[in-house]
Amino acid sequence: MQESVIKLSHATAYQGESLVINDVSFEIARGEFVYLVGKTGSGKSSILKMLYGDIIPASGDVTVAGFHLNKLSSAKMPYLRRKLGIVFQDFQLLTDRSVHDNLRFVLKATGWNDKHKIAQRINEVLDYVKLNTKGFKMPYELSGGEQQRVVIARALLNNPEIILADEPTGNLDPETSDEIVRLLIELCEHKGTAMLMASHDYLTIKKYPARTLFCEHGKIKETAPEAV
Ligand SMILES: Nc1ncnc2c1ncn2[C@@H]1O[C@H](COP(=O)(O)OP(=O)(O)OP(=O)(O)O)[C@@H](O)[C@H]1O
Ligand SMILES: [Mg+2]
Repeated sequence: MQESVIKLSHATAYQGESLVINDVSFEIARGEFVYLVGKTGSGKSSILKMLYGDIIPASGDVTVAGFHLNKLSSAKMPYLRRKLGIVFQDFQLLTDRSVHDNLRFVLKATGWNDKHKIAQRINEVLDYVKLNTKGFKMPYELSGGEQQRVVIARALLNNPEIILADEPTGNLDPETSDEIVRLLIELCEHKGTAMLMASHDYLTIKKYPARTLFCEHGKIKETAPEAV
């Protein structure tokens, strides 16, 4: 197996009093595309939140992009986050500023200062998601699919090793969902970004089969995509 960019070994975690991740072990290799499926409340978002550093593992070992999350100090958290691209449903665009300004905001917050480099990087990621003519639009002037492409562009700004996506097609029509998933798959293939994508979108999973992890009561098992 290639080098793992995500590795969980007997990981356990709580949200409040409830055990939401229960003895979970799996690995994801560089550039690998993986679906995370399972019923509502089964623990998919909790796993993504743990990988993002939002929920601290209570036991076991969790390594993400070379960071050991069990003993990650809050001072190191920004360094972890720079290796991750996040495409969460509840992690949407700032509504009071343009697409450009949304992207500039993230670059500045992650230590970019040079105006020319900032402008260049924004153009590159907007080109990648085919929105180079829409940089001056406000989020409300874009369709749902276009907004989600901006969210993906934002996730790409710092060339992440890993993208964590929580139901990125949840609010989109089937055709637009298809376009977004193809964009994410292409990213893995062309840029070597690993992807863990929580999804209820079984039509897409059937159309673009890939390794699939099945989540149930906070536990994970490998499953065949056609079993979903
Ligand atoms: N902040 C919280 N405090 C306490 N329990 C929580 C919290 N957030 C989630 N949970 C519980 O954790 C369990 C897993 O929830 P999680 O959101 O990870 O499920 P999910 O698989 O993402 O579901 P969905 O498909 O609906 O998004 C659920 O039992 C839920 O009630
Ligand atoms: Mg969820």
